[in-house]
Amino acid sequence: MSSSANALGAKDITYVLHPYTDLVAHEARGPLIITHGEGIYVWDASGQRYIEGLAGLWCVSLGFNEKRLVQAATQQLETLPFSHTFAHRSTEPVIELAEKLIGLAPEPMAKVYFVNSGSEAVDTAIKLVWYYNNALNRPQKKKIIARQRAYHGVTIASGSLTGLPNIQHDFDLPIERIFHTDTPHYYRYANPDETEEEFASRLAANLEQLIQQEDPETVAAFIAEPVMGAGGVLLPPAGYFEKVQAVLRRYDILMIADEVICGFGRTGNMWGSQSYAIKPDMVTCAKQLSSAYIPIGAVMISEPIYRVVAQHSHKLGMFGTGNTYGGHPVAAAVALETLRIYEERNIVEYVRRIAPRFLERLRALGEHPLVGHARGVGLIGAVELVADKATKRPFPAKRKAAVLVSAKASSQGLLVRPLPGDAIGICPPLIITESEVDDLFDRLARALDDARGELKSAA
Ligand SMILES: Cc1ncc(COP(=O)(O)O)c(C=O)c1O
Repeated sequence: MSSSANALGAKDITYVLHPYTDLVAHEARGPLIITHGEGIYVWDASGQRYIEGLAGLWCVSLGFNEKRLVQAATQQLETLPFSHTFAHRSTEPVIELAEKLIGLAPEPMAKVYFVNSGSEAVDTAIKLVWYYNNALNRPQKKKIIARQRAYHGVTIASGSLTGLPNIQHDFDLPIERIFHTDTPHYYRYANPDETEEEFASRLAANLEQLIQQEDPETVAAFIAEPVMGAGGVLLPPAGYFEKVQAVLRRYDILMIADEVICGFGRTGNMWGSQSYAIKPDMVTCAKQLSSAYIPIGAVMISEPIYRVVAQHSHKLGMFGTGNTYGGHPVAAAVALETLRIYEERNIVEYVRRIAPRFLERLRALGEHPLVGHARGVGLIGAVELVADKATKRPFPAKRKAAVLVSAKASSQGLLVRPLPGDAIGICPPLIITESEVDDLFDRLARALDDARGELKSAA
């Protein structure tokens, strides 16, 4: 590495507090400094090129040098770098973006509320659920059910919905009125001889039991990622959402689809909700909304919810919430251009064209001695590492098997992410070509081979 890169690394160690990082290990190891990108590739400060196998953080759908997004931002910065949407004010990009999102929504939606991230979108959805039930004079109907291994963000409320212990316990989360039900991961949690449908029925029955135990009059909403991303790329078993939603309807419980990863083509439909028959009352989205070129998130709400919220705001004199940068005109302009590009290039069709190759190569990795399960849909997938394929016995947690394979992948010029349950997440930019898919999986296969000796000797 050059001396300037080394100096920068030292400064990073001195000044930057890194999320999702062992902070003490970082003091010795320092950062991987990424300097620039092009297409599906990024480069580090030493000049090494990597395939960004997770599209950054499941978000850079259009790759790393989409000039039209740069132009959209520049043009808006030159015209109106900031204005807000508080107290009746608006801007053209916000209006056009809201119309476009409502037009794309997986189920009829009435209104869009803009924020800056996925966590804020989820937090706002929770606030809306509570406001809605207060407006309906149901102050007791406030509990929200998420799933173990869900990922909905890190703020105090969204982090409470996230169902991953490391993200919660020492931060004193979850807050009250948040509950977690089963993880719909058939490979790991189904009983022997249970079909996917039977597993889904059991999970729906468990959900119903939780609702009854908590008292249905106190349960307000259920939130779910169509495909659980950061929890390990977990695909719902057959019939799961149909069965879950039948339970929710029985008790007048709202369905919130957290589309922060799945939204905008990732699963081979515009929304994960469309891939899995989800009929949401609210939708949260972010990430691919702007191809991650600029922070923006959104919550969409249905007409029945909007009507209640609107009347309540009228009674109180205002809808008393707002973020300075929610509906930032530059972010809205970039998101609008992103959606135009998706439309012009027919991104959903493109994903459907590339997905068969992606899934074929992914499933082939299922034959690897380290891989117990290879799963995916559209252009998102994971391989789950096991010490013993026949019994599905995992590696001891202290082996950090997925961390090791990810490090080996990095040496092969591929960035992927170790996920809970020793899964390796793969979620490339949506613009990836078939030959790039082959390159990605060739590198991942070599990384698995490299890790095998070390892991098998320790298994
Ligand atoms: C499904 C889902 N919801 C919410 C979030 C939180 O988004 P952010 O990191 O932008 O706050 C994420 C982030 O990965 C996510 O995957």
